[in-house]
Amino acid sequence: MAGKRYAILGDIHGNLEALTAVLADAKEQGATDYVCVGDLVGYNANPAETLQRVRELGVICVRGNHDHYVAHDELARDFHPLAANVVDWTRMQIGEDNIAFLRALSMKRMVNGFLLVHSTLDMPEKWGYVFDELEAESSFSYQSTSVCFHGHTHQPVIFEKSGTVARLNTLRVIITLGKKYFINVGSVGQPRDGDPRASYGLYDLAGRVVELRRVVYDVASAQRHIRAAGLPERLAVRLATGI
Ligand SMILES: [Fe+2]
Repeated sequence: MAGKRYAILGDIHGNLEALTAVLADAKEQGATDYVCVGDLVGYNANPAETLQRVRELGVICVRGNHDHYVAHDELARDFHPLAANVVDWTRMQIGEDNIAFLRALSMKRMVNGFLLVHSTLDMPEKWGYVFDELEAESSFSYQSTSVCFHGHTHQPVIFEKSGTVARLNTLRVIITLGKKYFINVGSVGQPRDGDPRASYGLYDLAGRVVELRRVVYDVASAQRHIRAAGLPERLAVRLATGI
């Protein structure tokens, strides 16, 4: 039997066009299982359809900050006003059953020997960002597995710890015994590293290889949906440049 090959999705943010393209690419790459590091909703115009696809596929998910605020009636203090408006809009689109699904998501999940978390392992409920080695070091001290996938910054990057922590200058790594990896799979639905293509990860468990991939998708269609829904224009514009 061929080994498991996980597609690791994150920060889909209701972008159905990007999700569809990523799922097609993952299938072509031989993905056998699907997991998600959170933020299924927010920003883009198709949260209900996104949730339907994710739930039909049986994707194992953890909770992102957008999922949290959509599912909980509390003030999103750390949110930019742009994101806060979309929280209210999203709530109205997805229905009670999806809200209950988001509310039930856990902050961390162990899957087949690796971990999933949205933001950080040291204080996941604070929704901190990991941009540099120092921030990655804090998460590594709580990482019991050799591999942990995360998201939240919308920028794909691989941090490796073997003694010290290094930000690797590659998007493909062979998992080596004795080292730890804290891997941001980037964003499916709203990339912010200047590359508008959707980002996701593939983890070949038997081959011990993690690869972060980019996929072209129909940005113009996602933009049309944002405008038709009356969501802020800025959310449509940013998809074209990936910022
Ligand atoms: Fe996000």
